[in-house]
Amino acid sequence: MPDTTHTKYFLHEDEMPRAWYNILADLPEPPAPPLHPATKQPVTPADLAPLFPMVLIMQEVSADRYIEIPEPVQQIYRQWRPSPLYRARRLEKALDTPARIYYKYEGVSPVGSHKSNTAVPQAFYNREEGVKKLVTETGAGQWGSALAMAGAFFGIDVEVFMVKLSYEQKPYRRSLMQTFGGTVHASPTSLTDAGRSILECDPANMGSLGIAISEAVEIAAKSGGTTKYALGSVLNHVLLHQTVIGQEALRQMEMAGDYPDVVIGCVGGGSNMAGLAFPFIGEALRKGLKTRFLAAEPMACPSLTRGVYSYDFGDTIGMTPLMKMYTLGHDFIPPDIHSGGLRYHGMSPLISKLHADGVIEAQAYYQNAAFSAAVQFARAEGIVPAPEASHAIRATIDEALQAKEAGEERVLLFNLSGHGLLDMAAYDSYFAGKLQDYEYPAEAVAEAQQRLPQIV
Ligand SMILES: Cc1ncc(COP(=O)(O)O)c(C=O)c1O
Repeated sequence: MPDTTHTKYFLHEDEMPRAWYNILADLPEPPAPPLHPATKQPVTPADLAPLFPMVLIMQEVSADRYIEIPEPVQQIYRQWRPSPLYRARRLEKALDTPARIYYKYEGVSPVGSHKSNTAVPQAFYNREEGVKKLVTETGAGQWGSALAMAGAFFGIDVEVFMVKLSYEQKPYRRSLMQTFGGTVHASPTSLTDAGRSILECDPANMGSLGIAISEAVEIAAKSGGTTKYALGSVLNHVLLHQTVIGQEALRQMEMAGDYPDVVIGCVGGGSNMAGLAFPFIGEALRKGLKTRFLAAEPMACPSLTRGVYSYDFGDTIGMTPLMKMYTLGHDFIPPDIHSGGLRYHGMSPLISKLHADGVIEAQAYYQNAAFSAAVQFARAEGIVPAPEASHAIRATIDEALQAKEAGEERVLLFNLSGHGLLDMAAYDSYFAGKLQDYEYPAEAVAEAQQRLPQIV
C-alpha cells in the first residue's frame, strides 16, 4: 500500500550502500568490446594504462555483481549520501493526475549534481596510484566542478577543458572549479594539437564535448604518466559508481510502499540514468518484472532516437578507443542549447546495448518544452532543476498526463540529477523567449554515418 502521509524518504548514513552494483553480471549478453583506435582489436588493460589507474581499468571489465566501495570514499559520500527520495505531491496536484510521482534528488551533493558520486572514487584511485594531476573535459561545468572538488580532497591538481560555449554561458561554474583550485580552459584551445587543428579550420569554433575530450586525452597521453585522464560519463566504471543512486532508491521506494512502473532519467553520456535505473533493471531482469525504463534526450542531440548503433570514437579527433554505441558521428558539432551536459555525440555502450535490446526506451524533447516542465516543477516543488534534468521532468510530466487521460494509477520515478542555481542565465533566456528549438536533421546523421570508422 502506498504511504499516504510522507513527502520524503530518508535513509540513515549507516544504510548507505557499501558496494556498487555492476549490471554486467545480470546482462544476458555483454556489450561488444571497445577496440583499439589503430589496430581495431579489442583494447587491453595495458592500452588503457596511460590514461587510467589500473583499479578503474579492472572495474571497466569486471563481471562481479558487487564491487566494494573503499572506506575513504564512503566517508566522503556520507556528506550528502544517502540522498533523499521525494514524493512530488504538489506537482501531482498541479497536474491533477492519478499518477504517483517520485524523484531522487542528487542536487544535494556539494557541487549540486550526481557527478560527485564518480569524481570522488576516481580521484581516490588515482591518488592511491600516486597520480599528481588529472585532466578532463566538461560541458556545463557540473562534472568539472565535481572533479575539481574531489581533487582538492585528495591533493590532486585538476585541469579542465570546458566547452567554450558553456565557458561563456556559465561563468560561475568556471569560478566554482577555480575555487577548488582547478585550472580551466575554454576549449578548443591552442594548447593541444587537437585544439589547434580545430581552430585552424574554424577559428570561431565554440567547442563540443568531443573536442574537449580530445584535448584532455592528448595532455594525459603525452604526459609520460604524470597526468591521467578522468571521464565524467559513458564508461562502465563511471556508470558503476553512480549505482549508489538506484540502490538507495530501491529501499526508499520500499519505505514509500510503492514500486515504479516507469523509471526515467535524462541522458547525455548515460551516467545518471544508469545510476538510478541499473539496480531496477537488474531486478527486472532477475525477476521478470515489466518495469519500463525511459531515457530523455534533447531533440538537438538525439543520439538514441536518431543516431546509428555502430562503432565510433568517443572524441572528435579519434584518439579514444572505438566504442559500440548510438552515435551522431564523432565530428558532430551540437547546436548551442543550454543543456551543456547533454551535448555529446555518443552514448554509453551499456545504455546503448540496453536500448538496442529493447530494455530502455528513448524519447527526444525540444529545449523550450524541457524548460516549461522545469518551471512547472520549480513552482510546485521549489527546486530549480538543472537544464539537463529538465528533460527527465518533461518526460515524467508527459507520462503523468497520459496516465490522467487513461485514468490509470502510474507510478513514476525520475532522477533529478542536479539543481540549476548556476544555470539561471538559461532560465533568463527562456523567459525572454530567446531559446530556439532545434531538430537535428536526419540528413546530417546520414552524412556523419559515411565518416564512421570502418570495422571489418
Ligand atoms: C545535472 C546533469 N544531469 C545530467 C547530465 C548528463 O550526463 P549523464 O548522462 O552522464 O548523466 C549532466 C552532465 O553534465 C549534468 O550535469
